[in-house]
Amino acid sequence: MNTKTFELSNPATGVKTGLPVRSGTIGPDVIDIGSITKDHGVFTFDPAFGVTASCESKITYIDGDKGILLYRGYPVEQLAAKSSFMEVAYLLLHGELPNESQLQGFVTSISRHTMINESLLRFFNGFHHNAHPMAMVSAVVGSMSAFYHDSMDINNPRHREIFSHRIIAKIPTIAAAAHKHAQGQPFIYPRNDLDYCSNMLNMFFAVPCEPYRVDPVAAQALDLLFILHADHEQNASTSTVRLAGSTGANPYSAISAGVSALWGPAHGGANEAVLSMLEQIGSVDNIPKYLAMAKDKNSHFKLMGFGHRVYKNFDPRAKIIREMCYKVLEKLGRADNPLFELALRLEEIALKDEYFVARKLYPNVDFYSGIIYSALNIPRSMFTVMFAIARTVGWVSHWLEMIGDPSMRIGRPRQLYTGPTLRDYTAIDKRG
Ligand code: SDX
Repeated sequence: MNTKTFELSNPATGVKTGLPVRSGTIGPDVIDIGSITKDHGVFTFDPAFGVTASCESKITYIDGDKGILLYRGYPVEQLAAKSSFMEVAYLLLHGELPNESQLQGFVTSISRHTMINESLLRFFNGFHHNAHPMAMVSAVVGSMSAFYHDSMDINNPRHREIFSHRIIAKIPTIAAAAHKHAQGQPFIYPRNDLDYCSNMLNMFFAVPCEPYRVDPVAAQALDLLFILHADHEQNASTSTVRLAGSTGANPYSAISAGVSALWGPAHGGANEAVLSMLEQIGSVDNIPKYLAMAKDKNSHFKLMGFGHRVYKNFDPRAKIIREMCYKVLEKLGRADNPLFELALRLEEIALKDEYFVARKLYPNVDFYSGIIYSALNIPRSMFTVMFAIARTVGWVSHWLEMIGDPSMRIGRPRQLYTGPTLRDYTAIDKRG
């Protein structure tokens, strides 16, 4: 039983209330402002949700000051070192690590749902050859709602489970189809004898005219990146999925909205932008010039892959990916990677710069991930798609948590209106 309250008094009306304070299992308390409009006649104002908890969740916890990230209580470092993407997906969806038979059942179900409807496959021919893959993925994921009328009752737990397995299984196939369309190569069907990431690499890089062998180093690297990208509590794309889903819209539409939100360069699109930025910087000598631009408020240039709304310390995922770069580049025989060298120097110089120190701007998850994707021969325009594949697990977990909550209501923010006050319509001949 919660007994803490936060005293609020409005001198204008003399009304005093004790707002209930809610405590999570860890992290700061939150003030439940639900009664504030009824009691005080005001709304709260927090445009970018900087200090607002939009929901209750049991999935992921971040301590941004300490640089801690937990999935269902497990530190991401432990999961990265010991787990697999499929196991982490099960954990995020179900709340507990699976036993062997649960994991086997889950993996089998995912591998049985990897094909996409042939009609859906033909959608890709409608896109121009240089369409951005995120545009294709968002459109095709949204279109999946046109194919599964028989299993889209959001109030039916079995339908929700079928949806969640379908989308997790098919999103690599959709991504690969987008890639093949951009390359002008024939689509490669999924192979259910391969693990999740090996199958993805096979669909990306195999061609019908010669054998292709998936490099296990590449598959492992991808699996690790997918673990690190799988969830990140109420980030912009996950919040978009929740908001779209709160209307009762079908879940494919909600995930498609999430893909679109992820695309922006302030969010998942930053991994693509980091590589373009590193190429633009070109050499260590140019770093001061670009840092000056990043600090200049009259310039639109930002240091991509730097800064985070929640982390005011190292993003733990960036640390892991930086270490991974050394190992993966070495194993792939690409240890001499000028862009990685440049990224390391950029990080070193920025972290000593007063502007970045004062604002606690550190490398985030997107800073180093593109270096690994490039080493795996994944084209730059596909980087954010890779993020979307992994994050689909997080989006689905949050959608399931929200839909399963009996107290769910449509998400509907309020506003501070600053437009014209009431005025009468003027006939066109009377307007100046
Ligand atoms: C992801 O939310 C998540 O969890 C997202 C994510 C996930 O897993 O889902 O972690 C994935 O989206 C990572 C972020 C990828 N984006 C980028 O790398 C783009 C570059 N970074 C920024 O644009 C920015 O840091 C954000 C968008 C990430 C965070 O924006 P905030 O929280 O609104 O930060 P802010 O604008 O309030 O910044 C505070 C100050 C400002 O300066 P002042 O006005 O106080 O003088 O820091 C400055 C900002 O201008 N600043 C930067 C900067 N990031 C912030 N200055 C230069 N370069 C930057 N990158």
